[in-house]
Amino acid sequence: MAAPKKLAKKDVTTFSCVSCGASYTKWQGKCDSCGEWNSLESQDLITQKIPNTLYEKPVSLAEITLKETPRLASAIDELDRILGGGFVIESTMLLGGSPGIGKSTLTMQIAQSMAKQKRKVLYISGEESQQQIVLRAQRLGEKSKHISLLIANDIDVICQHISELKPDLVILDSIQVMQSNQLSAMSGSVTQVRCCADIFIRCIKNNNGIGIMIGHITRDGNLAGPKVLEHMVDSIFYLEGDHRLGYRLLRAHKNRYFATDEVGLFEMKKDGLKELKSISNYFIDTSTLKYPGTAIAAVEQGSRSILVEVQALVVGSGLAAPKRHLVGVDVHRANLMIATLEKNCGMSLANKDIFISLIGGLKIQEAALDLAICVALLSSLSNTALPMNMGIIGEVGLCGELRSVSQIKQRLIEFERLGFTQCLIPKGNEKQILTESNLSLHSISHLSQIVEKFDFKNEKK
Ligand code: TYD
Ligand code: MG
Repeated sequence: MAAPKKLAKKDVTTFSCVSCGASYTKWQGKCDSCGEWNSLESQDLITQKIPNTLYEKPVSLAEITLKETPRLASAIDELDRILGGGFVIESTMLLGGSPGIGKSTLTMQIAQSMAKQKRKVLYISGEESQQQIVLRAQRLGEKSKHISLLIANDIDVICQHISELKPDLVILDSIQVMQSNQLSAMSGSVTQVRCCADIFIRCIKNNNGIGIMIGHITRDGNLAGPKVLEHMVDSIFYLEGDHRLGYRLLRAHKNRYFATDEVGLFEMKKDGLKELKSISNYFIDTSTLKYPGTAIAAVEQGSRSILVEVQALVVGSGLAAPKRHLVGVDVHRANLMIATLEKNCGMSLANKDIFISLIGGLKIQEAALDLAICVALLSSLSNTALPMNMGIIGEVGLCGELRSVSQIKQRLIEFERLGFTQCLIPKGNEKQILTESNLSLHSISHLSQIVEKFDFKNEKK
């Protein structure tokens, strides 16, 4: 009996939005998902041309022998720490970051570090010329014979070279400028990025290498291209920082082979990225501590603590709906703190314009910042500066109760290291500090106690 015609229909052309990646069966002028006009593009059925699977038969786990070195260390300690000891062979990592943050610099340094271990590296650039890359390589280290340079943006040609050269590490700068002749879509389009990433990842797996793809990010901080790119790669790392300041954080967003809460700390110098053990000095300026509205907190970044400076400005508002301008802190938590202060400390904030900012361009969502936000707000409102060498740690509950925070010892060590002499902590954390700390500790159990402790008065002139 003949099969029903509808089920046999396979050649449906789909269209994807180049802006957000939404797909449609029919072309239309406007994308319903993101509202962009003229952004729909036909998606060729590329998947038919790529072999579907790498390992064709099911194999019992017991039969598979592990390779001798399943991980290759980069010999850059800050990177190996967040990778969990090194790159996993046959994996592909995506490195994102805003333009000029140092992605090409970091990858060249990784290439040079691997080359020093006599590993074969292929550095592919579709963005820069040979001369530009060699200039950077010279600035960062030596022109190693173990690094080969390829200027290309045709992913099919690139894969041919990878198969011939069989490098240990392949760097692709960047995935957005790659294209495949198998598709008619423009380079940089969702279809091209997805297809090129797919071809590259398969090629790395087939050749037992390690791949690093550099990816651009959009204005709102997301990776440019299809969302599905995030699912295709084994790990995603973001290089973050403030362009005006030298610090750089390498943060894992996804990692199939290790935890994602660690961060790598670097500093951009004239001769490349240098590893750091602490970056707290980027975020605190002890000279501003004499002004009302400033409080220093210790936040957790993986297994390390960083000191951050919270600044608050509270001024009378002439507006019916007073302004709330919050930079670097979690908007919901900050609003919660404003409400909690009103309720528990008898301060009127409803008719005030409130500005809160974290110095140094950091974005922190951690609840251990709560108490510092509250103290900075009351310090500004009452025009009363805090003691110069006082650190503030604590999570605040909705009833104004102080909740203990994790890794208290580590946070106190960081305060002590940077010359602080006293610290305000939640009462619940007191019993965890068994060893004598050189800091003089003040513990409180309720938010209302900070009013008396720092002599905050409602709107002191
Ligand atoms: P780059 O790696 O080209 O950034 P991306 O690839 O993310 O766009 O880095 C560009 C910036 O880094 C540029 O402003 C110059 C600066 N830089 C240094 O400060 N020191 C260095 O050794 C290098 C190579 C770059
Ligand atoms: Mg670059």
